[in-house]
Amino acid sequence: MKTKIPSSGKNRNVVFFFLVIFILSMAFEVWAGINPGQGRRHPSRAFQGHHGQGFLGKGICPQNRTTVQAPDNIRGQKNPIKRTYELLYEGESLFQVDAQPTACKICHGVSGNGLGIMAQGLNPPPRNFTCAETMKNISDGQLFWIIRNGSPGTGMPAFKNLKDREIWLIIHYLRKLSEPKR
Ligand code: HEC
Repeated sequence: MKTKIPSSGKNRNVVFFFLVIFILSMAFEVWAGINPGQGRRHPSRAFQGHHGQGFLGKGICPQNRTTVQAPDNIRGQKNPIKRTYELLYEGESLFQVDAQPTACKICHGVSGNGLGIMAQGLNPPPRNFTCAETMKNISDGQLFWIIRNGSPGTGMPAFKNLKDREIWLIIHYLRKLSEPKR
């Protein structure tokens, strides 16, 4: 006996519709990944933005800082590298994924708000780079010194294996995080 499958044509249309949406959204992710720039997402965010902690929320602002000061001659240094979109992207990649032994986002959060997955239980808490009120008082040289040497007695590790250039690129990215969104 033949059984008629009702409205199979319609079902096919629905499947086709969702397939098209799916392909378009994948194409968008790829496009956003190869065209980084202000306001667009780094590809690493496409996979963790929606679950990882540190994407939502504003973080503590302003933050109370008790971090040791870098020596005067280093504290006064300005970022020697000129900022470009491409270099910002390199800095973002180091912050989000590549820095060893641990990517910065684990503690400082995907959006830099200080609420990363490892932030819980850290006292003092990780710096909130999205807080302009805190960040405006911290010089480039100070940021450099703490990234290279860590902040003794806190959860902030020393990143001895990052090259000077890499640290300055990360600093460009950290600065961008507290700029007004366009
Ligand atoms: C295991 C957690 C952890 C990781 C990973 C981590 N940080 Fe931190 N970071 C902290 C904590 C905690 C503080 C607060 C330290 C303090 O108050 O002195 C901090 C503070 C800082 C500061 C503030 C310095 C200042 O003078 O106020 C900078 C800059 C910084 N981190 C950069 C980075 C960068 C860049 C990376 C990745 C290359 C990174 N951190 C990775 C936990 C972490």
